Amino acid sequence: MAGGGGIGAIGPFPAGVDTPEQREEYDKLRRRVLWTLPSGLYVLGSRAGERRNGMTLNWVSQVSFEPKLVAVSVEQGALTHDLVRDGGVFVVNTVSREDRAIVRKFTKPVEVDEAARTLNGFAFHDGLTGAPVLDQAPAYIECEVRQTVDVGNHTLFIGEVVACGFQADEETPVLRMEDTRMNYGG
Ligand SMILES: Cc1cc2nc3c(=O)[nH]c(=O)nc-3n(C[C@H](O)[C@H](O)[C@H](O)COP(=O)(O)O)c2cc1C
Repeated sequence: MAGGGGIGAIGPFPAGVDTPEQREEYDKLRRRVLWTLPSGLYVLGSRAGERRNGMTLNWVSQVSFEPKLVAVSVEQGALTHDLVRDGGVFVVNTVSREDRAIVRKFTKPVEVDEAARTLNGFAFHDGLTGAPVLDQAPAYIECEVRQTVDVGNHTLFIGEVVACGFQADEETPVLRMEDTRMNYGG
């Protein structure tokens, strides 16, 4: 997954990068450099009314410790985007390294089985915010949106941590992008 590909080189370009070929080359170089930024891989739980979703996401960071704020950047076309905007909450679910296959299951809107309490077959329960916490997430962080910032083709949702917890041993290794062959952004 390589966001920004296929739609022509995106500026700005440094001085001397002038021809279409140079711009294309610079565009690819910048993508590879950006891909070296280390990141984790998570399933973002969202909910508005009775609509729930889970989405694979790596753009997550704590951005303040007083108050405790965590930001996630979500594609404007995603269902999750509308659910977080309308519901005003999100849950960052960490993923065990052993569960790496899970991230491929959350790259489009999920099938919710309300009776079985599953998202694409994965058991969940509603957190304090009402958004879905995956039962198999080693840890979860529930947030209420405090600020919404338009950042181009994504929206940065800045949420305050209102609940969190471990559901597995605290030492459980959590999934990172480099554990997979995937990329995002760049
Ligand atoms: C490895 C990987 C990382 C991703 N990271 C993000 C991310 O940080 N933000 C984002 O908006 N989409 C990210 N995506 C894309 C979404 O998972 C995908 O577009 C999304 O599920 C569509 O959202 P929806 O189910 O809410 O419609 C990533 C996809 C993959 C495969």
